[in-house]
Amino acid sequence: MKTAMIELNRIALDSKKTKKTVKHLNEILSNYQIFYQNLRGFHWNLLGHHFFSLHVKFEELYNEAQLNIDEIAERILTLGHTPLHTYEDYLKNSTIKVHKNVSDEVKSVEGVISGYATLIKKERETLPIAGNADDEGTTDMLAGFIKTQEKTVWMLSAWLGSNGKSKK
Ligand SMILES: [Fe+2]
Repeated sequence: MKTAMIELNRIALDSKKTKKTVKHLNEILSNYQIFYQNLRGFHWNLLGHHFFSLHVKFEELYNEAQLNIDEIAERILTLGHTPLHTYEDYLKNSTIKVHKNVSDEVKSVEGVISGYATLIKKERETLPIAGNADDEGTTDMLAGFIKTQEKTVWMLSAWLGSNGKSKK
């Protein structure tokens, strides 16, 4: 009986399965870039009595986003592929919408929470795909992102006065 040959890449991962992981990583990267720019907009355009604290918080979050973006792009390169790197591609591959001219503090925080919700969902969906390729480096990276982002969502929700419990 003839068995199908599995082609391995330079770090001994199944090339075909890795390609699938990379497609998802590029989608996460695209969403993250739009999210990053949304955070900059919230940071700049903010108005209101919480300006000083939120302005600083958004800066902290976009700095963290910038580091994660670089980590995702470099993971894609480590896997032997090319990260998307143009705004044109980011807009095409992002489900996070562009937030324009938002200055209201509650709307800004809600925008950040919804961006994180999309990122967490996409990262979680990518975990089994990377896991199926035995790609521990990618699952480890994504699990780290998810844990931190989930905690940030809790804190931002607390700021909004929501405990996150189901209404039922
Ligand atoms: Fe600034």
